[in-house]
Amino acid sequence: MHTAETASPGGRHEKPAAVLAGLGTCLPTTEFDNASLPTQLDTNDEWIRTRTGIAARRRAAPSVSMRDLACEAGANALRSAGLDTVGGLVLATTTPDRPCPAAAPEVAERLGLGQVPAFDISSVCSGFVYATTVAASLITSGIVDSVLVVAAELYSRIVDPLDRSTAVIFGDGAGAVVLRRGTAAEQGALLAFDLGSDGSGHRLIHVPGEREQPEGPRWFTMAGRKVYLRAVERMTASALRVMKDCAWAPETIGALVPHQANSRIIEAVAERLGVPPQSAVCELARVGNTAAASIPLALADALTTNQLKPGARTVLTAFGGGLSWGSAALVWPQLKAVRSEF
Ligand code: COA
Repeated sequence: MHTAETASPGGRHEKPAAVLAGLGTCLPTTEFDNASLPTQLDTNDEWIRTRTGIAARRRAAPSVSMRDLACEAGANALRSAGLDTVGGLVLATTTPDRPCPAAAPEVAERLGLGQVPAFDISSVCSGFVYATTVAASLITSGIVDSVLVVAAELYSRIVDPLDRSTAVIFGDGAGAVVLRRGTAAEQGALLAFDLGSDGSGHRLIHVPGEREQPEGPRWFTMAGRKVYLRAVERMTASALRVMKDCAWAPETIGALVPHQANSRIIEAVAERLGVPPQSAVCELARVGNTAAASIPLALADALTTNQLKPGARTVLTAFGGGLSWGSAALVWPQLKAVRSEF
């Protein structure tokens, strides 16, 4: 656990911090609503809506790569921040277009960032929070002055289209933020972080390797109910840690932005934390679960609907494969999200 604020009175606000300065997203143009899912799935709109809150999801055309979505979202975040370049790039994805090398250097090159440090992070649905935490550390340690954090996922490439336990849930998309060096006193400053993992649950969210499964297609699998319970427990505990670090009482939280896996999970976490129910951001209805991309996509939607306002005490919390989880706290800054479709 780490907090960017210091205990010393008077010193806390001058303390260097990473400040959120731009937000961009990119979604594939094609939407599949619940009615357009294959009949072989033996599912129905009512089950999906009531059990998950999902009504539709986006799927990228075969010609679109994860890197394409990452570049679009990244360029949009730079536009939102009013910047042409940054000092580094961290890319969160668990659906890389290829096993090797990492995609981040190529995305940095395509965005014209030059020969900056660039690397991928593979933390499944916690990827955005992990990437943001690492990027903030690069800034506060003085290694770089600004970082583009991109989360891009094409789960349609790894989910079995005929597995109803995953095919109805996951969608494709990308989101990105720009972090720059500033102080803890500024709106947008990332004030506290929490990260954790539990490898004993690695099989609960899983894509088998060649040795584990030498034959047949190696699809993504998720033990839904077991993951559900752990997601609620871990996100609640992690979010509480950053709220405690900031000395923020639950009723003062303006926006709780959890990983967008399931509306029931989001409601349960908000209830357990005791934050006002209207503060819980739930924006998965039209995009489904977009893994690492879900938090920046939800932030952009919440800005559009005015649920997220400058000055709001904002808590991001995520849970995903690994198992892994994490949270971050910031006071929401004045900015406009830049969005596009590809
Ligand atoms: N349509 C219709 N029925 C379905 C279905 C679907 N798409 N998927 C599962 N079912 C059935 C199951 O077969 C089961 O039937 P049974 O009772 O006859 O055995 C029943 O619905 C209940 O299944 P269960 O898995 O217990 O449902 P659930 O309420 O837990 O919902 C998830 C399933 C996946 C939506 C939910 O568990 C979930 O959101 N899990 C966590 C996801 C998450 O947090 N991920 C984080 C990282 S990505």
